[in-house]
Amino acid sequence: MEKKFKRTLITTALPYANGPVHIGHLAGVYVPADIYARYMRLKGEDVIMIGGSDEHGVPITIKARAEGVTPQDIVDRYHSIIKESMAGLGISFDIYSRTTSDIHHETASEFFRHLYDKGEFVEKTSMQPYDETAGEFLADRYVMGTCPHCGNERAYGDQCEACGTSLNATDLINPRSTLTDSPIVLKETKHWFLPLDKWEPALSKWILDGHKEWKSNVYGQCKSWIDLGLQPRAVSRDLKWGVPVPVDGAEGKVLYVWFDAPIGYISNTKELLPNTWQTYWKDPETRIINFIGKDNIVFHCIVFPAMMMAYGDNFQLPDNVPANEFLNLEGDKISTSRNWAVWLHEYLVDFPGKQDVLRYVLTANAPETKDNDFTWRDFQARNNNELVAVLGNFVNRAIVLTHKYFEGKVPVAGEYTDVDKQLFADIVAAKDSLSANLDTFHFREALKDAMEIARLGNRYLQETEPWKLAKTDMERVATILNVALQICANIAIAFEPFLPFMAEKLRGLLGMSSANWSKLGASDILNAGDTIAPAELLFEKIEDEAIDAQIQRLERIKEENKVKNFKAAPQQEDVEFDTFMKADLRVGTVLECKKVPKADKLLQFLIDDGMGTRTIVSGIAKYYQPEDLIGKQVCFIANLAPRKLKGVVSQGMILSAENADGSLVVMGPTAPVVPGAQVK
Ligand code: MF3
Ligand code: ZN
Repeated sequence: MEKKFKRTLITTALPYANGPVHIGHLAGVYVPADIYARYMRLKGEDVIMIGGSDEHGVPITIKARAEGVTPQDIVDRYHSIIKESMAGLGISFDIYSRTTSDIHHETASEFFRHLYDKGEFVEKTSMQPYDETAGEFLADRYVMGTCPHCGNERAYGDQCEACGTSLNATDLINPRSTLTDSPIVLKETKHWFLPLDKWEPALSKWILDGHKEWKSNVYGQCKSWIDLGLQPRAVSRDLKWGVPVPVDGAEGKVLYVWFDAPIGYISNTKELLPNTWQTYWKDPETRIINFIGKDNIVFHCIVFPAMMMAYGDNFQLPDNVPANEFLNLEGDKISTSRNWAVWLHEYLVDFPGKQDVLRYVLTANAPETKDNDFTWRDFQARNNNELVAVLGNFVNRAIVLTHKYFEGKVPVAGEYTDVDKQLFADIVAAKDSLSANLDTFHFREALKDAMEIARLGNRYLQETEPWKLAKTDMERVATILNVALQICANIAIAFEPFLPFMAEKLRGLLGMSSANWSKLGASDILNAGDTIAPAELLFEKIEDEAIDAQIQRLERIKEENKVKNFKAAPQQEDVEFDTFMKADLRVGTVLECKKVPKADKLLQFLIDDGMGTRTIVSGIAKYYQPEDLIGKQVCFIANLAPRKLKGVVSQGMILSAENADGSLVVMGPTAPVVPGAQVK
């Protein structure tokens, strides 16, 4: 049974301000949250949507250090990129603020202090990595050493990126500080812990008994955490960047970023509504919905709720946490550090005016129940085959025909036929399904329902063929076009949550001043005689060139990453000098070079080797044009036993170096030498 509520507070995970936002963030959190918020507004509900940047935490300090700037510089830069690009995509935050604001520092500080004064924390001392040269405790990421599992000498104190194992700084062999390269020592330090075990029965009752309706991925994760048994969690860190721990003797300590960030939802509400913010957080008739990605579930369903229970004072727990899975890009995991992403601020430059296309594709492919994949070909196909061919085409035809036959005025409808009545019954059915799917956070299905209205419209025009009736039955044509325009008006309402730019433009064309969900399904949204503006295309075809450019960009990034991640092959076993000298290495001059027929990898050389000429076949055709090598000097092994390759006898082998991306570069002398010179 639905609980009664008077207002809705939508929160969206605060993105880390250590990079711009990408399509994974959008598909997982911001697009669905925005769809929901817009839907609520269309229904006339009291709703606010809260967002902001998460500006504390170790990764921001690492990025700052790497660039030689301050953490504040980093968060200033990314906060404004994120804020601007989200606005550019039409994400309709009521506030988008930041956790470095004064109001947030005060709110988080007060929150901690209140729990501290109530005795809700346990204090514990432990041994933590410390850099004596720098005089600082080190976050795990600042410790580097040899991985005990794979021997990688550059493993971090939290994870070895070579073998993927999660580590503790103390697991590393020869752990060193990345700040000063000195060996770390372990030093005692005091921290405050929130005893989650104390809240376990309450959490279990609230979620496991009380919220069986939550998405199964969310419910399942909560259950496995609770089943494992909850442990006290440290809520402070030895770090300079963050909200200082507001307790005497806590110099050099800040609140753990996952303690302060969710409080950011509260601070941002306060900043938005200084006088009434409490009703959104403390009135049981408020419904709180947290939009997040799956990696945030434990913090939103276990840790933050425990913090609020510990705080007391009527703080309300979320009613739902519709967390999404992850979106991949062209089959690979999106990664900020590997630059494997489509960045929102770049998309907005590359595809101006196409915000709704991205919103559409990300919703149609939303990773609601499992990880999903974004590909540029699918993006193009959905635009061309769905937005252009179905939605845009239908609206365009309805408007063009209205101008052709009725001078751009909504014609008067006569009596409805059974076809007309069935059509509106189908639209009402689509609306019911659409509402039900939006109410339960099934946005992919909801988008299909909205699209169904456009499909019904297309089919209606196809079947009634008003352009044929125009010669014989203008009265019927008037009815058909009135109906078609009413469908357009329905589209302008139904798509407002999903494609707000298109919806606004369409409302402009139809002369609709506003959109209201209660009107959806109606056959009298537009009045006979209303003026319709001349048709304008709502969507344009996306050509191959634009898509190819994006795919090439990703291919370039893949190549760059291969270079960045190149690891030299382990050295081979030692050989005796005499053994090495048995290889007769020489320099020769290329006299002729051509492709070997029917062998796309092979080039055939004729070499002046100082003794005469010889033929050598080499597998480098992918990397060189034959004519570019003629006249060049190359190193080759002269005494390799002759081998037949694709019918050609090769008398030796040309030496090449293999690059990070697998490409080959031919070896030669750095200055001209006589052909036949020995290489020693
Ligand atoms: N910055 C976190 C992330 O990107 C999310 C923080 S959500 C909040 O994963 F609740 F802490 F704000
Ligand atoms: Zn390892």
